[in-house]
Amino acid sequence: MLQSFSISSLSPNNEQSVHEAAEILTAAFAANWPHAWATPEEALDEVNEALAPDRICRAAFDDAGAVLGWIGGSAQYGGNVWELHPLAVRPDVQGRGIGRALVADFEQQVAARGGLTIVLGTDDEAEMTSLSGVDLYPNVWEHIATIRNRRGHPYTFYQKCGFVITGVVPDANGPGKPDILMAKRVPGAGQPGES
Ligand SMILES: CC(C)(COP(=O)(O)OP(=O)(O)OC[C@H]1O[C@@H](n2cnc3c(N)ncnc32)[C@H](O)[C@@H]1OP(=O)(O)O)[C@@H](O)C(=O)NCCC(=O)NCCS
Repeated sequence: MLQSFSISSLSPNNEQSVHEAAEILTAAFAANWPHAWATPEEALDEVNEALAPDRICRAAFDDAGAVLGWIGGSAQYGGNVWELHPLAVRPDVQGRGIGRALVADFEQQVAARGGLTIVLGTDDEAEMTSLSGVDLYPNVWEHIATIRNRRGHPYTFYQKCGFVITGVVPDANGPGKPDILMAKRVPGAGQPGES
């Protein structure tokens, strides 16, 4: 059953929520991204960076005010493009639509700021996809075109949210550990050829 939750901006003044967001970051990435925010201090730094006034930082809260997940983003290309980073849902409530709702809310936030495209990079450090553990050169696009999800890599989640793979950064996290680049047009944004 879908857990009842609501999405709003994460306030830097709400210390409890900020700490919960940091804990979620460490917990959500622990299994497959062991180098990501391994310590509470690193996680807290990431949340505090995401809370800068020129960024987007939104969280899903349950009825008691506990943070269930959160999403951050920053502007690039003069605000035409927003990078979605990071996104994490508390492990015990994953798979209940919270991640999808956070992405949809993020899209609305970007649209309200006049953004056209959302980009993101989703690392594969643990052979979760067919792009990991192999040499992607020289036929990089062949590998991308035949990508397979071996065990729950989030690129499939993003595809379900409407993102497409736009490229890859080979060896981003060490030999055979790429970053998978994805993008989505902001709903309602003008399309090429439109006046
Ligand atoms: C990836 C993540 C943000 C998704 O959030 P979530 O709340 O669990 O996802 P949702 O319940 O909204 O899922 C939406 C759809 O994506 C699918 N999905 C979610 N996570 C998936 C995964 N890792 N692999 C494949 N499909 C996935 C769901 O099955 C669902 O599909 P459906 O609509 O066909 O039923 C969350 O699982 C998480 O925090 N994971 C660990 C950290 C992470 O991977 N962050 C993103 C890295 S860039």
